[in-house]
Amino acid sequence: MTNASTASPIAAITGVAGYLPEFRLTNALLEEMVDTNDEWIRTRTGIEERRILKGEGLGTSDMAKEAVNELLRKTNTAPEEVDLLICATVTPDMQFPSTANLITDKTGLSKAWGFDISAACSGFLFALDTGAQFINAGRCKKVIVVGADKMSSIVDYEDRATCIIFGDGAGAVMLEASTNGHGIHDSELHTDGAGSTYLHMKGGGSQRPASHKTIDAKDHYIYQDGKTVFKFAVSNMAGVVGSLLNTNQLAGEDIDWLVPHQANKRIIDATARTAKIPSEKVMVNIQKYGNTTAGTIPLCLRDWESKLKTGDKIILTAFGGGFTWGATYLTWAYDTPQS
Ligand code: UT7
Repeated sequence: MTNASTASPIAAITGVAGYLPEFRLTNALLEEMVDTNDEWIRTRTGIEERRILKGEGLGTSDMAKEAVNELLRKTNTAPEEVDLLICATVTPDMQFPSTANLITDKTGLSKAWGFDISAACSGFLFALDTGAQFINAGRCKKVIVVGADKMSSIVDYEDRATCIIFGDGAGAVMLEASTNGHGIHDSELHTDGAGSTYLHMKGGGSQRPASHKTIDAKDHYIYQDGKTVFKFAVSNMAGVVGSLLNTNQLAGEDIDWLVPHQANKRIIDATARTAKIPSEKVMVNIQKYGNTTAGTIPLCLRDWESKLKTGDKIILTAFGGGFTWGATYLTWAYDTPQS
């Protein structure tokens, strides 16, 4: 689907925030857990450490709560001013109610309604585009979009091919109507259910409810055919970025920042190379956090916020389970005040 927005107003990101748990799961620690080594992990993925949420009874909403509270503080927003909160996650606290529900409660967003979006690593892009429509239509004044995942809750720490990639974290952005013409201009989003074979979690849904059998079969962990996913990720992320640039009559050289989902440094490099965007314009923090699924893109924006200037042309792109993939073109709407 593509939706070049010509209508006024357009939604703009007016603030970013994030939260990462304290505990650092380093490559050295993983060496003690599975048959792997720091050199393999660094060269095959670019990851050096990831953060893990420790603590009995803590879930995705607890990380999101921290990100949302920081966002409210940074944007001088009172909780009751927020109209809607959308949470992208594949690791909801519970099957229901939605994690968005729990976050609005924990952050005092007493007037906001909310819902979750499940699109794995593309979840933040799907949620951002959805949230933008509520601003564009004039239905909401302030929308918070959260991308958050506690991947450690579904990772098999005996599977060396997947446990080295994932980490926990949460990012959040505020959406409001643009006051200067800068904001979210276009998105191209895709799904292909045929890809579910290669990346999924079988257990716990209506098809395979939790039972001793599903636990014994490790059905409550991520299954990933890494090689196949890698190939689709490279071709689909590069393809959708090229298509979005084309639709908006842009070349790679016009782009100030590429913000790719952080799944593997080699996928990021291949996407940037194909789009002809030089590495100094590509946001990469995978070495610090690994793959936080829905959290990667807002956490990049948070880490780079102080470098972003009004009018910067930015492409966000992601690929993930489903398969889901997409890209969003936006121009940055504000300069970060110097503190
Ligand atoms: O964000 C959601 C979407 N997910 C992705 O985009 C992930 C895409 N896939 C990948 O990033 C990569 O496929 C992985 C990082 C998961 C794996 O890297 P790879 O280069 O594709 O490795 P591979 O699965 O082809 O395995 C190569 C070798 C194998 O050994 P042999 O058969 O060649 O002897 C594996 O057993 O590397 C071995 N291997 C490891 N060795 C040390 C696999 N995992 C590890 C490990 N440490 N952790």
